[in-house]
Amino acid sequence: MESYKKLLLNNKVWAANMVEKDPAFFSRLAKTQRPEILWIGCSDSRVPASEITGTLPGEIFVHRNIANMVVNTDLNLLSVLQYAVEVLKVRHVIVCGHYGCGGVQAAMTNQSLGLINKWLRNIKDVYRFHREEVDALPTLQEKFDRMVELNVQEQVHDLSKTSIVQRAWKQRGAPFLHGWVYRLSDGLIHPLIELEAGSEIDPIYRYDNVDE
Ligand code: CO
Repeated sequence: MESYKKLLLNNKVWAANMVEKDPAFFSRLAKTQRPEILWIGCSDSRVPASEITGTLPGEIFVHRNIANMVVNTDLNLLSVLQYAVEVLKVRHVIVCGHYGCGGVQAAMTNQSLGLINKWLRNIKDVYRFHREEVDALPTLQEKFDRMVELNVQEQVHDLSKTSIVQRAWKQRGAPFLHGWVYRLSDGLIHPLIELEAGSEIDPIYRYDNVDE
């Protein structure tokens, strides 16, 4: 059977199972969504947000791109962020990277990959900020792993640099920002960094008039 046909069959079984467990599940969800969490993850097929967190439809609002980046000119990411923070009023934003991320690894090589170079440039910048620390690590594996962690940390800080997050912090003391990393080899998530609402922001990136 072709792989896409299997998806449709699986879907029928899944929907039937959900209704069996909770007859009102879909009719309830069809009315509205109230997720408390925005998830920004990697597009990698091995890191499915709902599955690895045991969450059901309706629980997490999800944005995924290559290497879980928060790029401040990315209309897609910014639209998701604004909607999640200002309309859904999520309590938490989680950036979840993963060890073995192909995007991070590609950014650390000197190979040209076409259009994707533009995207990976943002990760090369993270490498440049932390070059001393990363280059001092003895093995390539350790360099890749550390870069995955540093990249997540930078993306969390990049969230805090947006006027969207700064305004929400002032107006409603949320969302909290979290940086996590997922290990493909054991399926476990490790928290790396947490910025509570109102955390100190490098003055260079602080907006004083977001409340106006
Ligand atoms: Co990845």
